[in-house]
Amino acid sequence: DETDSERLADDLRVADSAVALTGAGISAPSGVPTFRGDDGVWERFDEGQFTYGRFQRDPDGFWTDRVELQRELFGGDHEPNAAHEALASLGLDGRLEAICTQNTDGLHGDALESTDEEPGTTILELHGNARRVRCVDCGRRQAADPIFERAEDGELPPRCECGGPYKPDVVLFGEQLPGAVIQRAKSLARECDVFLAIGSSLVVEPAASLPRLAASAGATVGIVNLESTPCDGVADVVLREDVTQALPRLRELVESAD
Ligand code: APR
Repeated sequence: DETDSERLADDLRVADSAVALTGAGISAPSGVPTFRGDDGVWERFDEGQFTYGRFQRDPDGFWTDRVELQRELFGGDHEPNAAHEALASLGLDGRLEAICTQNTDGLHGDALESTDEEPGTTILELHGNARRVRCVDCGRRQAADPIFERAEDGELPPRCECGGPYKPDVVLFGEQLPGAVIQRAKSLARECDVFLAIGSSLVVEPAASLPRLAASAGATVGIVNLESTPCDGVADVVLREDVTQALPRLRELVESAD
């Protein structure tokens, strides 16, 4: 509510460093489905089919299923919503050092790029970006759309010029996060004054442990989520509300006191 938001806004205003961690809930108002809960994609798709092990064992089957999942997740024409915009605006004001996101939809980037200003904030895509694919052999990255079209036309798995199979440029279950990315996220969490976890169920590692890391290092931790999370106990402020309500209000409170 208002008092809790004011407390967070006060801390944000004086923070040397503030960091946001986002999950599927921030993109839900843009029409991107979430993973868990009654409407979550893991109710309709078997998450066990999207592991790195399956990709290696059965790349054809993996790609067939991934084409379906990709359409389900990103088939609509998704645009950043008021919550992405509020974070982008805090970033442009120099109030947000980094946005660590578990989302692969690229919407934080779109929100930042929609202004001409120099972004003062870093976007750390913990789980990669589904708008790209990457060749497993030579590492070449490519726009995902044309490669997914080839898969839909029956090229399974779609292959790079070097002959290697393409993989969506996202972190699959059972696959390591890039070490540099996770180290960076951990040190941001350890060193920030304010840590905001937004629209994530906070059950998937390593994102799930970042709020705890921030809390034990002394940061003010705020959680914005419709449902309770396993990290609510370490949070100083929990806003159980829609991200498109909570974040624009937070931004307004931060900016209005200037
Ligand atoms: N406002 C606030 N919170 C919301 C909103 C909203 N409009 N809509 C949904 N939520 C909350 C839900 O209550 C839920 O707790 O967002 C959370 C989304 O949780 P998940 O679907 O589990 O998404 P996330 O935490 O990002 O998942 C982590 O799991 O399978 C994977 O790799 C996938 O990156 C993903 C990871």
